[in-house]
Amino acid sequence: VPVSVYPDPSTASKVVAKRIADVIRNKQKNGENAILGLATGATPVKVYAELIRLHQEEGLSFKNVITFNLDEYYPMQPDAAQSYVTFMNKNLFDHVDIERSNINIPDGTLATDLINAACEAYEQKITDLGGLDIQILGIGRTGHIGFNEPGSAPNSGTRVVTLDDLTRRDASRDFGGKENVPRKAITMGVGTIFKAREIILMAWSGNKAEIIKKAVEGEISSEIPATYLQLSDHVEFILDTDSASLLT
Ligand code: F6R
Repeated sequence: VPVSVYPDPSTASKVVAKRIADVIRNKQKNGENAILGLATGATPVKVYAELIRLHQEEGLSFKNVITFNLDEYYPMQPDAAQSYVTFMNKNLFDHVDIERSNINIPDGTLATDLINAACEAYEQKITDLGGLDIQILGIGRTGHIGFNEPGSAPNSGTRVVTLDDLTRRDASRDFGGKENVPRKAITMGVGTIFKAREIILMAWSGNKAEIIKKAVEGEISSEIPATYLQLSDHVEFILDTDSASLLT
């Protein structure tokens, strides 16, 4: 797996933002839409801040951008403080000129009997638009990408999943206690992610060093879904020095 290590998250995040901006501008030149796969959590915050800066100071327009977020808690109301809808609005969408109708985030409000059809429709919409041009990822300490927890199949599609205990513990601060963290989520599958034409996995801080070592150097296994990325020929890991510190 190609790995690039930068001295700090800010420097690395600017590199990732530039890659996304290049996709948007190249598509713009051809009069086409850019289809972006986006992540939430702490990791991409500085990437989004840099994209906002590029919009405000360097004229980067999001008019031709269509986005698909990786995941959402289930159940989750979009206007809840912890929803990924709220996260994306605050950290990116409220500050750029994207068309609201071009934003796609899995719907955490659907009744259980409607969820499977909605997941299939999410997957189909990505396919109908020609697939994701670029997908950015963080990594959970369980080795999840999106919310594809250990045990996820390499060809999995968008679906409802059960969150790992460690993932719920890591989210507990946002929810004021683990007991308030939803037990389930809707996530794009490993297979959905794999179809993206360009995949960038980012990780910052020593907290992620152990799982990064396993993801990059470990045996490919459903026990660490991020190891599946070793099988992709269009993935790059973009790391800071601390998260890369255990790599040989
Ligand atoms: C978020 C997502 C997750 C996070 C991962 C890391 O949309 O899909 O896989 O990327 O849990 O979270 P942070 O960035 O908060 O360490």
